[in-house]
Amino acid sequence: MPPPSLVVAIDGPTASGKGTLARRLARHLGFAHLDSGLLYRAVGLGLLRVGKDPADRAAAAEMARSLDPSGLADPELRSERTGHAASVVAAVPEVRGALLDFQRRFAASPPGGARGVVIDGRDIGTVVCPTADAKIFLDAGVEQRAARREKELRQRGAAIIEGAVLRDLQERDARDRNRAVAPLVRAGDAFVLDTTDMDADQAFREALAYIGSRGFGGPGGPAAEM
Ligand code: DC
Repeated sequence: MPPPSLVVAIDGPTASGKGTLARRLARHLGFAHLDSGLLYRAVGLGLLRVGKDPADRAAAAEMARSLDPSGLADPELRSERTGHAASVVAAVPEVRGALLDFQRRFAASPPGGARGVVIDGRDIGTVVCPTADAKIFLDAGVEQRAARREKELRQRGAAIIEGAVLRDLQERDARDRNRAVAPLVRAGDAFVLDTTDMDADQAFREALAYIGSRGFGGPGGPAAEM
């Protein structure tokens, strides 16, 4: 039997830089990467595309059970409209249950035979992989996150309404932190990395130093990304 795969769990609020950090760590370590937010986004987008309301719990649960992972590269998944739908479906327990199986399978059998995985989301260190080998809780002040998100949107050529990004992040934070199932909370044994006053390079170095302290920070070969 191959040794169990190593798991790095990265949790944190919207626009905390989890995706960037997770991708970079996965590349460095030669681990597979899963952006679990994409799964919720795919469920939300699937509903919007068939004209269903993301708040329709039965339809959302059905969409999660029939999720096709080959659709996870769709650029529309990254839109703000999809992000909003995702945060609505993420509060439905049946949706979370269906996606939990997918994430655990990914962690147990990384694609491409990688020796480990980096999974980022909201409940990876608390619910999906509570025995993860390394857990990082990435945080940053909401105003700093809003400024980063606005910059990213401007670079993509999107029009920005004054204050709208900040309000949207505050609403999403509230939904993620206050929902009854698997809310965003820091795992008691997670390493807290507050990036309010850090750039992406500093965050990467700090995360790598922590992972090194867990005994496996060395670089590895190329690996799959999702
Ligand atoms: O990280 P993101 O913005 O792509 O996530 C989209 C939504 O999905 C967000 O509102 C929170 C939810 N989500 C979740 O509930 N659990 C996860 N593990 C990942 C994302």
